[in-house]
Amino acid sequence: MGRRQVAQADAPTLSVRTARFEDVPAILRLIEGAIEHGCRNTYDGAQRRAVYLGYASNLFVDAVGPFETMVAEIDGLLAAVAQLDVDGGALRALFVDATLQGHGVGRALLAAVEARARAAGCSRLSGAMSLNAVPFYAQAGFRSRGGPTRLLNAGVRVPVRWMEKSLAGEAA
Ligand SMILES: CC(C)(COP(=O)(O)OP(=O)(O)OC[C@H]1O[C@@H](n2cnc3c(N)ncnc32)[C@H](O)[C@@H]1OP(=O)(O)O)[C@@H](O)C(=O)NCCC(=O)NCCS
Repeated sequence: MGRRQVAQADAPTLSVRTARFEDVPAILRLIEGAIEHGCRNTYDGAQRRAVYLGYASNLFVDAVGPFETMVAEIDGLLAAVAQLDVDGGALRALFVDATLQGHGVGRALLAAVEARARAAGCSRLSGAMSLNAVPFYAQAGFRSRGGPTRLLNAGVRVPVRWMEKSLAGEAA
């Protein structure tokens, strides 16, 4: 995937590109801060730590899955990260920097992820969403579906909501 611009009326202009090896430390710092801030009213400290450790240990296991990791930048600075499992039609991660949450960055990167999934032939996109993020995904057209109501992360049970969105019939 090449570099391209994603712009929305009331959102910042983002540059979205495939993540590189040298992005890994900054991506992990962004995710840690995003969880601490974005999930602070939904998950307790142990759960937030467990969620972070789950991502830190599983995000870059591309050896066992063809995951695509995309980063969004504003003025060359890392603003958000997402990971797509093209084969499984799964959104594995979506995090916006703690200082940028609530300004349309997540919506813009999610739109880019959906476009990439659609282009790769995915008919739907699903994921185990953090409870704090359920309104965000609902606003983006995701609907709740069945699935485990808790995930075990680093030995801690964390409540989640499985959600999915049909990508069929939407313009690429
Ligand atoms: C969840 C997250 C990815 C959303 O990204 P964001 O940039 O903060 O969200 P946006 O500003 O793009 O919001 C887009 C829309 O969703 C709505 N929304 C976002 N978070 C919301 C919330 N907690 N409650 C209600 N609505 C919310 C916004 O109001 C906006 O709708 P609007 O256009 O009608 O105003 C981001 O906040 C985040 O990283 N949170 C912490 C980590 C996390 O939970 N990641 C998801 C893991 S599944």
